[in-house]
Amino acid sequence: MTKPKVLVARRAPAEVLAQLAAHFELDRHDGESPLGADELRARLQGKAGAFVTGTERIGAELLAACPDLKAVCTMTVGHNHIDLAACTARGVLVTNTPDVLTETTADFGFALLMATARRMAEGERLLRDGGWKSWSWDFLAGAEVHGSTLAILGMGRIGQALARRGRFGFGMRVIYHNRSRLPADTEAALGARYVGKDELLREADHLVLVLPYSAEAHHCIAAAELARMKPTATLINIARGGIVDEDALAAALRERRIAAAGLDVFEGEPRVNPALLALPNVVLTPHIASATLPTRHAMARLAADNLVAALTGATPPTPLNPEVLPL
Ligand code: DGY
Repeated sequence: MTKPKVLVARRAPAEVLAQLAAHFELDRHDGESPLGADELRARLQGKAGAFVTGTERIGAELLAACPDLKAVCTMTVGHNHIDLAACTARGVLVTNTPDVLTETTADFGFALLMATARRMAEGERLLRDGGWKSWSWDFLAGAEVHGSTLAILGMGRIGQALARRGRFGFGMRVIYHNRSRLPADTEAALGARYVGKDELLREADHLVLVLPYSAEAHHCIAAAELARMKPTATLINIARGGIVDEDALAAALRERRIAAAGLDVFEGEPRVNPALLALPNVVLTPHIASATLPTRHAMARLAADNLVAALTGATPPTPLNPEVLPL
């Protein structure tokens, strides 16, 4: 019996490729750069499945041009690069990789918060550049982390993992805002208090963005929101770049209307807004919040499990549109 054809659009761990090869005829793109839109469309011809990451855009036009496609399995939890409604309309299954990256991503969010608040990148740059001359009382003095107010926008799995680190690791006061409020017992277990968005912005010593990207979330942190924040506050974004208006953020940082920002995600990745690159009070990292080897292996395995299940008539572990099943 011939195996279904699958495109593996980016490099993946060997054991995952072996698992996929046992079930499918693979077309692998092993290059370091993602396929361009035209190439992606060409390589998807005749493919029943696609193993993708956040760098492959799967939109309505592409789907119309790839009528054999039945399943798109992304090794990311965020899925704003995939038009879920268009996939559902065409009966194409979409899966993502929730849970397996939660704690790792929260670790990184907290690391970025600490590095930003305590000016670690600035200090390292200064030291390497020979700028460390002496000790003085306010030399590279940053913001307090322990005992301060951690404000979380988006209280899903990763938001809750951050809340636990802040509350129980650093004795922080935790406030959050989310589309829907958590059950009272979950709030109590996290020691987190639900507040309106306005209060969240005003009270934040450290505001961490972990909400999923959507059209409504686009630039939901812009000039007006930044103006409500304390001049001593830090802003951390580990969600998606498009959530923050980067020009407005650069202006607020330049004019010290907020103290600092830590950004792991950017609107035009991998391009970074030059206005941000020019500022000392921003820590910039290249979208690596989930990047530990065990977690990336787990994400790739889950994406592969989803693809194998989807195309062999089993139930995929983490479908986003299960209503299209069975395929
Ligand atoms: C995700 O899984 O959504 C992360 O941003 C990694 O791309």
